[in-house]
Amino acid sequence: MTTGISDNTVMMFAIHDALRRDAAHLARAVERQDMDDPARREAFLIGWEVFKRQLRHHHEGEDVNLWPLIRTYLPARDEENALLNAMEEEHERIDPLITDVDTALRNSDSGWLAEATVTFRQELFAHLEHEERDAVPLMEAVLTPQDWKAFSRTQRKDAGVKGAREFFPYILDEADPERAAQVTRLLPPPLRILVRRAWQPRYAKMNRWN
Ligand SMILES: [Fe+2]
Repeated sequence: MTTGISDNTVMMFAIHDALRRDAAHLARAVERQDMDDPARREAFLIGWEVFKRQLRHHHEGEDVNLWPLIRTYLPARDEENALLNAMEEEHERIDPLITDVDTALRNSDSGWLAEATVTFRQELFAHLEHEERDAVPLMEAVLTPQDWKAFSRTQRKDAGVKGAREFFPYILDEADPERAAQVTRLLPPPLRILVRRAWQPRYAKMNRWN
């Protein structure tokens, strides 16, 4: 079985897919305009909180641990450094758009919320596409297997058990079956069992978005 994506970057594509999936959930929930219903509103807020947490954790991990690591291989390569600068700038542009959605929600302003959601989603999708098109090939070209292992280890350490308990079900939820199988195959067997038997069922009970 092959997904055409290397084992090094499959986690990256899996989290990007999950972020796109949740951006679509967000857009659909906002379009329905049924936030007056307390149960709908609660489900929406749970979905949105998980989405924000995963997005921020992903961007922070790249800003703190991934781009600096790639830069160590690029002392005199202006074009590649400019690309990494663009990645950081795009993350910075997305942050206030998250706040904008939050402020619109707090003000129960459906017009503002609809507009803020469209802008946030456009910016996020453009960034993910840019990263996959240009930054992922750069990562693949310069990072060694040891670098990838170290990056995964740091991400796991930063997230802790609590973070991992949410992260794995999050990226596997509604995932493309082949991509999910590749991700699962990379997990150490005890973790794989924990994800399947405990973390995914627990996550499935959460009423997110609807
Ligand atoms: Fe990414």
